[in-house]
Amino acid sequence: MCLRGVFRDWVDTIAAGIRDQGGTALVLESDITDQQQAADAVERTVAELGRLDTLINNAGVMLLGPAVGAPLSEWQRMVDLNVLGLLYCAHAAVPHLLRAAGDSPRQVADVVNISSVAGRVARNGSGVYNLTKHGVGAFSESLRQELARRYVRVSLVEPGATATELAGHNRPEVLEAMRNQFGQRMEAEDIADAITYIVTRPRHVAVNEMLIRPTEQER
Ligand SMILES: NC(=O)c1ccc[n+]([C@@H]2O[C@H](COP(=O)([O-])OP(=O)(O)OC[C@H]3O[C@@H](n4cnc5c(N)ncnc54)[C@H](OP(=O)(O)O)[C@@H]3O)[C@@H](O)[C@H]2O)c1
Repeated sequence: MCLRGVFRDWVDTIAAGIRDQGGTALVLESDITDQQQAADAVERTVAELGRLDTLINNAGVMLLGPAVGAPLSEWQRMVDLNVLGLLYCAHAAVPHLLRAAGDSPRQVADVVNISSVAGRVARNGSGVYNLTKHGVGAFSESLRQELARRYVRVSLVEPGATATELAGHNRPEVLEAMRNQFGQRMEAEDIADAITYIVTRPRHVAVNEMLIRPTEQER
């Protein structure tokens, strides 16, 4: 598990729970917008756990509002994390995943990139978030084709509205406008469930793409 440290206690509790049940958990703090930190997190994982079977690129930020007058810093934050952070992690991880696909017991490895419904359809007020998530989709599909015959599966998960901290990073005026749009939301566990399904398929099955909305979400 890799995070920046904001929820360190909470993640440590989850890790302790995993260990209590006989599992192994390693918690690393890393700002993945820093290429060296992203690479170090991957290398430490391999050094301490012996192998890398799965990379889940989940970290992301969604800063919405009109493009006209938007703070450029918000656009930079989204590109830095949603695009470059994901690329830094993928770049560092893929050589290890190829090795795992060759010599691990399962003989297959996984990259799961978390995009969004916003990676499928662009909307007024979310242009740069749309840009980053469409980019994640394009990179994922290209990488999937490149690695398919080497048994590193690349999957794209595109969630709809999910109850997390994501919206909370927006400016107050944007949050106020968003409040009217809140409808049914999924739980983080629903997305974790989808990822678990993807990475536990047998070696000859690759789930390339999964679009998941709350049942009542129309768009
Ligand atoms: N929630 C939704 O409705 C929804 C819908 C579609 C897609 N998504 C996508 O789902 C993914 C997860 O988002 P979420 O909804 O779970 O939002 P969230 O609750 O805000 O979680 C974002 C995660 O990204 C991590 N992160 C942020 N900046 C980072 C950095 N520089 N380096 C390393 N980690 C960093 C955060 O770690 P810290 O807590 O330590 O900062 C946190 O764990 C995102 O890619 C998002 O675009 C979410």
